[in-house]
Amino acid sequence: MGLTDAEKKEVSALWANVAGNEEEYGAEALERLFLSFPTTKTYFPHFDLSRGSAQVKAQGKKVAGALTLAVAHLDDLDNTLSALSDLHAHKLRVDPINFKLLAHCFLVVMARRLPAEFTPSAHAALDKFLSRVATVLTSKYR
Ligand code: HEM
Repeated sequence: MGLTDAEKKEVSALWANVAGNEEEYGAEALERLFLSFPTTKTYFPHFDLSRGSAQVKAQGKKVAGALTLAVAHLDDLDNTLSALSDLHAHKLRVDPINFKLLAHCFLVVMARRLPAEFTPSAHAALDKFLSRVATVLTSKYR
């Protein structure tokens, strides 16, 4: 279930490109999410979801920022993401399928922005990391 040491290295190296640019990466991932998977918009009825919206930028920064924090604590994701798990599982009740959709969008953003760095093994490691994060964020359903 956990990441191997090699996968942790891959994720850290790849994500180092995102650190400091959370808003750009996160907002593009959310823009892709809302356009490609419109049902995800139902969780944000109170947001302006149009292109370039300040709310989407701010949310993108928060989401990618949480992932930056998670990358810094790869050995302790449960504690690091505990408050976000409470929020998404109990308060927001986000259906777990949506985490797979968002993970897919992050992979697309990374592949497009970092074509040289996004090797098959980096892809696989990031996919595993994002699915581990999703498991933690939805674990309090159970
Ligand atoms: C990688 C997975 C995700 C991460 C790291 C993440 C992270 C965050 C963070 C950091 C916040 C702000 C919490 C705060 O203000 O205290 C948040 C809020 C929120 N998230 Fe997520 N999230 C993820 C996935 C999702 C998904 C898949 C959905 C639904 C499609 C979702 C829906 C929401 C909603 C509705 C809010 C509240 C927005 C607001 O009213 O301000 N999240 N998330």
